[in-house]
Amino acid sequence: MDNLLPKIPRNKALFVCTVCLLSLIPIIKADPVLVYIECPNTNLSTTSTYAPNSTYQTNLNTLFSVLSANSNNASNGFYSFAAGSSPPDIAYGLFLCRGDVSITACRECVIFATKDVVERCPRSKRVTIWYDECMLRYSNVSISATLDTGFQGILYNPENFANGTRFREVLVEIMDDIRDRASSDHSGRKFATAEANYSLLQRVYGLAQCTPDISNSDCNTCLQNCISTFPTCCNTLQGARILFPSCYVSGYMSPEYALRGQFSIKSDVFSFGLLVLEIISGKKNYNFYQDGAAGLVSYAWKLWTRGTPLDLMDPTLEGSYARNKVTRCIHISLLCIQDDPGARPSMATVVQMLNGDSATLALPQKPVFVDWSSTGSNRIEEVESDQSTSNQTSEKTVDYKMLGWMTSPIVGNRISHLDA
Ligand SMILES: *[C@@H]1O[C@H](CO)[C@@H](O)[C@H](O)[C@H]1NC(C)=O
Ligand SMILES: *[C@@H]1O[C@H](CO)[C@@H](O)[C@H](O)[C@H]1NC(C)=O
Ligand SMILES: *[C@@H]1O[C@H](CO)[C@@H](O)[C@H](O)[C@H]1NC(C)=O
Ligand SMILES: *[C@@H]1O[C@H](CO)[C@@H](O)[C@H](O)[C@H]1NC(C)=O
Ligand SMILES: *[C@@H]1O[C@H](CO)[C@@H](O)[C@H](O)[C@H]1NC(C)=O
Ligand SMILES: *[C@@H]1O[C@H](CO)[C@@H](O)[C@H](O)[C@H]1NC(C)=O
Ligand SMILES: *[C@@H]1O[C@H](CO)[C@@H](O)[C@H](O)[C@H]1NC(C)=O
Repeated sequence: MDNLLPKIPRNKALFVCTVCLLSLIPIIKADPVLVYIECPNTNLSTTSTYAPNSTYQTNLNTLFSVLSANSNNASNGFYSFAAGSSPPDIAYGLFLCRGDVSITACRECVIFATKDVVERCPRSKRVTIWYDECMLRYSNVSISATLDTGFQGILYNPENFANGTRFREVLVEIMDDIRDRASSDHSGRKFATAEANYSLLQRVYGLAQCTPDISNSDCNTCLQNCISTFPTCCNTLQGARILFPSCYVSGYMSPEYALRGQFSIKSDVFSFGLLVLEIISGKKNYNFYQDGAAGLVSYAWKLWTRGTPLDLMDPTLEGSYARNKVTRCIHISLLCIQDDPGARPSMATVVQMLNGDSATLALPQKPVFVDWSSTGSNRIEEVESDQSTSNQTSEKTVDYKMLGWMTSPIVGNRISHLDA
């Protein structure tokens, strides 16, 4: 909850809704959102795993506690460390927090990552895991101050921009800009963002970051590798993330939540509706997959059309809320996230709706992103079947389900450092 409160826009409507949902708030848990994991397939070779209670494991635990301790005060949201004194048992590791997250969010993400990574990829000698807020790597091989583009992860939002020509113009402008600024950033933080107008109403955002331990020219090379992947993987798609261990780039269309899963000052009625759904369900929209629905929005809509909106409630809240009030909050949220922006109520109307008790609310129409649930699950199956037919050189595991953001089946194999 510490995570969520500072992000809440200080507007009246939210205050009213906070009151409406007061009893729910203390229970919300906002774990970092998993973006990608490079978890070597440890079935391939016993040398890629460490034994329980081995020296390597002891060193790894030391590494995790040092990284966690330094996540509070690391300059530039970055820290690297090597635990142990003699090879082959030295555990090398580092973390990098996104350039614009708070120290608190950075610390929480790193501490979470050190626990989560051993659950998601147990006993592996090396893993790289990306979350929205931070990235954590460890390895039995030294990784600090070394450019690593040997693994590439790609995520994309399968919706296309209507005017591909226009989008490409905008993308080139933004990408060159953030590559140049991130890789010539002398503040010690190799991070840059940019935005540009795609149309009168839509903006395109870009974000680039390198681990600050690599040189400026390596950072430039790494980001250029990301950018040159866009035309083949993601052409005119509305959002894409290209991840390397040493750097990453996102291009994406507003609204901001699609990338960040969080809310800024610019939050609008839509973000508000989504936030309320997240509060009620205790889940993030972003990495939600349940009951055949990719994404919290799809799931909420499915339950609504089925006539069981309250199934959305976090089960731990059962009995601690007034059912009719929560149903009403869900109803209002669905009005806020309708696909047609013109059909969404104004914030002032939302306030009236929240205050009223007997006023009849309009029936919500189809929300944004619902169509993604079908394309989404198909794409996920596609990726998974690719996995099962892949041969032994493939060492990737796919371990996430995200609304709209799909993994590209064309990448994901580590090109270098393959286990013997
Ligand atoms: C590794 O082996 C286990 C047991 O044989 C199997 O269940 C699992 O799917 C394998 N993992 C991969 C990534 O192939
Ligand atoms: C690191 O582990 C790999 C197996 O995953 C092994 O092949 C390699 O020799 C190890 N390197 C060092 C420096 O211990
Ligand atoms: C590892 O150490 C713990 C605690 O010292 C012990 O309980 C456990 O049995 C050990 N596991 C193995 C596989 O040796
Ligand atoms: C950061 O904090 C940790 C734990 O409080 C401490 O051990 C470490 O020396 C600090 N690092 C710096 C650079 O201040
Ligand atoms: C698409 O964008 C290009 C370049 O900005 C512009 O010239 C063209 O008119 C646009 N097409 C449509 C259909 O809006
Ligand atoms: C983008 O659009 C906004 C408002 O629509 C305008 O204020 C801003 O100047 C535009 N930026 C550029 C770079 O054209
Ligand atoms: C395994 O996959 C790689 C690349 O994915 C391919 O080049 C190679 O020919 C495949 N090997 C076999 C035995 O199928």
